[in-house]
Formats: sequence, C-alpha cells, structure tokens
Amino acid sequence: PPPNPPGPLKDTSAKLVNDAAHPWRPAAPGDIRGPCPGLNTLASHGWLPRNGIATPDQIITAVQEGFNMDNSLARFVTYAAFLVDGNVVTNLLSIGQKTAETGPAPPAPAIVGGLNTHAVFEGDSSMTRADFFFGDNHDFNETLFDQFVDFSNRFGGGFYNLTVAGELRFQRVMQSIATNPTFSFVAPRYFTAYAESVFPLNFFIDGRKDDGQLDMETARGFFQNSRMPDGFFRANGSKSADGIDVVAEAHPLPPGSNVNGVNTFTPDPTSANFGTFCLLYTNFVNKTVASLYPSPTGVLRQALNINLNFLFEALDGVDPGACAQAFPFGQD
Ligand code: HEM
Ligand code: MG
Repeated sequence: PPPNPPGPLKDTSAKLVNDAAHPWRPAAPGDIRGPCPGLNTLASHGWLPRNGIATPDQIITAVQEGFNMDNSLARFVTYAAFLVDGNVVTNLLSIGQKTAETGPAPPAPAIVGGLNTHAVFEGDSSMTRADFFFGDNHDFNETLFDQFVDFSNRFGGGFYNLTVAGELRFQRVMQSIATNPTFSFVAPRYFTAYAESVFPLNFFIDGRKDDGQLDMETARGFFQNSRMPDGFFRANGSKSADGIDVVAEAHPLPPGSNVNGVNTFTPDPTSANFGTFCLLYTNFVNKTVASLYPSPTGVLRQALNINLNFLFEALDGVDPGACAQAFPFGQD
C-alpha cells in the first residue's frame, strides 16, 4: 500500500531552498514539465525527481520543504490531482504529459494522463498558459505573460500583488468568455483558479522580503524557466491560499460556462461555490473520480479507497466534522 501522507514541517521558518543540494538545471531531454510552475520549479531544482514523475508523498514533502505550503492544503491538492491524473496502482504521477513512465495504466475510461489532462483538474483561464481549446494548456505562453506584466504595471506599480491578482483573474475569465466557445469555470477549476492567483504571492516571494510584491524578473523565472532566484528563501511560515477571498471579492463571479459558443456564459447551480465548500469535495469524488472508475475491483479499488481516504482526511483536518465522507466505491 502507499505510505501515509507526510505530516507538517517541524520548522517552518524561512530558509535557503535554492541551495547547493538543489541547484537549478534545465530539463534534460525526456524530463517532463507541465502546467504548474510550482511543481515544475521543484523538479528543476531536484526537490522533486528531475524527470517530473513523482509519488504523492514526494510532492507533499517537496511543496512543504521547498515552498512552505501548508500541510492540509498540500495533501488536499496533491491527492485530488493524483486521483484523477495519476496511476494509483503504481503510486506515480506525471507533472505534465501522459507517459508510460507511470507504469501500466488501469483501463479506460481512466485517463492517467498527468497534470496536463484537461478538465479533471487543469482548467481554463490560467494566467500564463492558454485554454485547452487553443491547443496547448501547459506550456508557458509569452503573450499571456506579457499581459501579466502589463497588469502588474497598470495595477501594481510594476509588481504582481493582491490588487493585480484580482484584476488579472477577472480579465482572464472575461477573455475566455469572449474567445473560448468551450470555456468552463466550474468546480474544481472555479476554486483552483482563485487559489492559483494568490500562489505567486504566497510562494514566489522571498520569505525574508514577505511584502506581497512579486517583481517581474522573479515571476518570469518561476513561470517560464521553472527557476528560483539565486539565494532564494522559501516563505516565512507555512502558507495556504491566503488572500483568495480578496481576489474573489474584487470581481465576484459565479461558477458557470459558455453553453452555446462564445459570450454565452451561464451560471451553473450544480457546481460548488465559495458558500458550498463540501460540495466541491462531494462532486469531485462522486462525479469526477467515479466517472473515471465505473466499477473498480481488487487492488485498483483498494488503491482508490486508500487515496480517497487520504483526500478526505486532508479536508477534514481543516474543519473536523464539517463535511461527510463519500464512498463511491463502497467501504472495506
Ligand atoms: C497551476 C497542480 C502546488 C503554483 C497548477 C495546475 C495544476 C497544478 C494541475 C494547472 C491548473 C491550471 O492553471 O489550469 C499542483 C499540485 C500541487 C501544486 C498537484 C501540489 C501541492 C503548487 C505550489 C505552487 C503552485 C506549491 C507555488 C509554489 C501554481 C500556479 C499555477 C498553478 C501559480 C497557475 C499557473 C497559471 O495560471 O499560469 N498547479 N500545484 N502550485 N500552480 Fe500548482
Ligand atoms: Mg489551465
């Protein structure tokens, strides 16, 4: 069986993480990178295996050690992504494209396609990656980064900060509504879009500075080159999605999607929103995960149940008893 998830760090102080043991190296031929600048960077510094194939426990340890991500958030995001994008039997996840390196995959409709897989976790209106509809949902996009810089200049005096995050999040949604006929902005993407808007503030700013102002050279380093600045210190104290409420309230939007081509954005009352957090979990487990595994048996079912349990424990740790556990594959 897979190991239990790692616990929180004992020492969450800021410290040098671009250190002698974790030098940046460019991805070698065959090394996989994907839509997440955080995980890409950890792989390019050797906090994760440099080939971009990792176990959930390696990812949790790396985001904690390398960036000081809070333990509950790290566990929740990691097991959620792993359940839909990873190989639960071999316990391996690709941080980018689908690959044979994660081992023999369970039968379709399971995808086991790595983090690049569209719609189960990765989603539309990313800040520096294009929508799947336009063909490449995972590589750094210079045009989008230029917009990131432009918004930082206009709203942040040259820095990405909480004000910029609120404006850029709204801009990316408006752009997708106007140009992407398949635009979807429902849970889980609804939540990850807002969370990822604050991650650069919480994790890409040097922990000794900690002033909520991300400069453009540092931003480009992480987003494009998967690279920490020289001498980079991780955040000072563990961080979660701090500031997400500010971003969401800057331009409130309901979850929804374009239902009949561009400019047909329609709210979706079946999606979870910020007022129905347990529904995020319940829909994800009972709809998204269950649709990939209609009738698992044996070791596959066992592995799914263990990882579903890890996911629920991460959620329950934040607010014990608030959400009821779901068992789409029955209980052992
Ligand atoms: C985006 C996975 C941790 C920063 C993403 C995406 C995935 C992902 C699949 C693509 C979503 C999309 O934009 O469509 C994960 C997983 C993590 C993790 C499984 C495990 C804990 C982190 C950490 C950071 C980070 C620790 C920061 C240090 C970001 C940012 C984006 C993103 C900024 C948005 C990129 C953009 O909008 O252009 N992540 N991530 N992530 N991630 Fe992560
Ligand atoms: Mg995306």
